Amino acid sequence: MADGDGFVDLRSDTVTKPTAGMRAAMADAEVGDDVYGEDPLVNALEERVAELFGHEAAVFVPSGTMGNQIGMRLVCQPGQEVLGDAEAHVVTYEMGAAAAVFGLSTRTVVSAGGVLDADQLIEQVRPFGNWHLTPTAAIAVENTHNRAGGLVQPLAQLEKLFAWSRDAGVAVHLDGARIWNAAVASGVPLSTYGRLADTASVCLSKGLGAPVGSVLLSSADRIAEARLWRKRLGGGMRQVGVLAAAGHHALDHHVDRLADDHARARTLAERLGVDPATVHTNMVVLDGVAAPMLTEAARAQGVLVSQVSATKVRLLTHLDVDDAAITRAAEVLAPLL
Ligand SMILES: Cc1ncc(COP(=O)(O)O)c(C=O)c1O
Repeated sequence: MADGDGFVDLRSDTVTKPTAGMRAAMADAEVGDDVYGEDPLVNALEERVAELFGHEAAVFVPSGTMGNQIGMRLVCQPGQEVLGDAEAHVVTYEMGAAAAVFGLSTRTVVSAGGVLDADQLIEQVRPFGNWHLTPTAAIAVENTHNRAGGLVQPLAQLEKLFAWSRDAGVAVHLDGARIWNAAVASGVPLSTYGRLADTASVCLSKGLGAPVGSVLLSSADRIAEARLWRKRLGGGMRQVGVLAAAGHHALDHHVDRLADDHARARTLAERLGVDPATVHTNMVVLDGVAAPMLTEAARAQGVLVSQVSATKVRLLTHLDVDDAAITRAAEVLAPLL
């Protein structure tokens, strides 16, 4: 299916438009003032997502960026550092918020293709109580890893890192914007991913197709503090049950179907001669291409793709990309490669 302008839009899974069913759920939503804690669908959504991931509490936030940044702030004080992958969303695409807004230092390691390597991170951790060093308070993990092409992190590495972090007194923050894709692809339950993080941000507005919204998860104490930060940042929303209704609808109808997005990404990769083994979830990466030229030529023929670098292009499948759209995208893109 092409969008209203006739484009097949593979730039991101954030471009989806609410389905008729989702719009109906939003229109029918019972609402209250969420800053007063009186929006029934927001309260239910927070409870529901906390339970799915086995966390004590949750708070609905407008974006994954706010979920990540507040999440990291909950486990890292100003002047301390968050350690993570050099290609992580939290350091690449969030406008330096950790430093600009919260006074957090960030340090990164260059991993092999974004794959979490617990030992590599552990080796870099700097201790508290040394007058010469910025102490590492938290490690940020991204699953699936966006810039690594939707990579699902190995469960054994997540477990190793988390087990180590308990003794070390270092927190783990999960950027789980696409944790649903990881769970569907790997068969690992959401609750398992949840228990391997102290704070986790999960998005309803990526593959799940809601127009807005993320949920930050942690302990009850931390989430109480997160509500303060959300308000300070201007993220206190009012009759936001209309958005929570979209979130509930997404959880009811759009999780299992992510397997279709993953299958379509593999099909697209095959048709473009990309090794399907490089397709982990809903992303296809075209590497070693003349990205600006390809992006423009594809747009001229009604296919929108995302330029990641001068030589890399990213294609994402999502709710608004059906089999016909994959066929059309392959017809346009294949001759350009
Ligand atoms: C891995 C990852 N984390 C966080 C975000 C931020 O989400 P938002 O755009 O809602 O701020 C994104 C957005 O695409 C993402 O891909």
